[in-house]
Amino acid sequence: MEVRIFKDKDQLGEVLAEILVSRIKSKPDLSFGFATGASPVPVYKSMIDYYRKGLVSFNKITTFNLDEYCNLPREDENSYYSFMQENLFTQIDIKEENINFLNGNAKDFDAECKRYDNLILDKGIDIQLLGLGRNGHIGFNEPATKFTKNCFKIKLSESTIEANSVYFTKNPMPHYALTMGTVSIMRAKEIFMIATGDKKADAIYEMINGDISPLCPSSVLQLHPNVHVFLDKDAAKRL
Ligand code: F6R
Repeated sequence: MEVRIFKDKDQLGEVLAEILVSRIKSKPDLSFGFATGASPVPVYKSMIDYYRKGLVSFNKITTFNLDEYCNLPREDENSYYSFMQENLFTQIDIKEENINFLNGNAKDFDAECKRYDNLILDKGIDIQLLGLGRNGHIGFNEPATKFTKNCFKIKLSESTIEANSVYFTKNPMPHYALTMGTVSIMRAKEIFMIATGDKKADAIYEMINGDISPLCPSSVLQLHPNVHVFLDKDAAKRL
């Protein structure tokens, strides 16, 4: 794993956006796996700046988001679909038909997960962005006794509910989600992990130095040949 430490999240966002934009310039039809949450926001902001300055076009890229809450309307302000619309998609020239999401309101969750797996297998993911849960989760692959494989429905852990319920000021937070599995994530050709703030420091330490174990799902990244870990000083404080 390559580990890079930045003075703050804005500097991290600028450097990573510059890398992603240069990758798009070499391969305009790049396929991305995108994450939601606070961690990638500075990267998305900086990507929008590149677009506004006319330095890049996103009109050929394809995106697959990692996860989505179950039984939360897509239009709800807390759905991950709304998050991506607000923080990136409505501000760049991506084509609606190239945006892919798990449907957390599907009638048959197994069929929905298979549909998404097939789409990902068909297209492949060139670059996957990941955030990190305080408990070491990636996507919504929570600590467990076994590594997960493909997309599936998960009951969220207490740690994740505690961390994310701050965003749910009007309605209670859903306790289930659909997520790409560990194997789906590991199939990406290249992975950029973003972690900022001291609440991530223990999880970063375990991910890099701990045993490879489903009790810390992100530790599986030690086995991937092309992972870059982008940290601010606080998230890196135990390294
Ligand atoms: C979000 C996701 C999660 C987050 C993680 C960190 O799509 O899959 O794994 O990346 O929970 O969240 P933040 O960045 O809000 O600390």
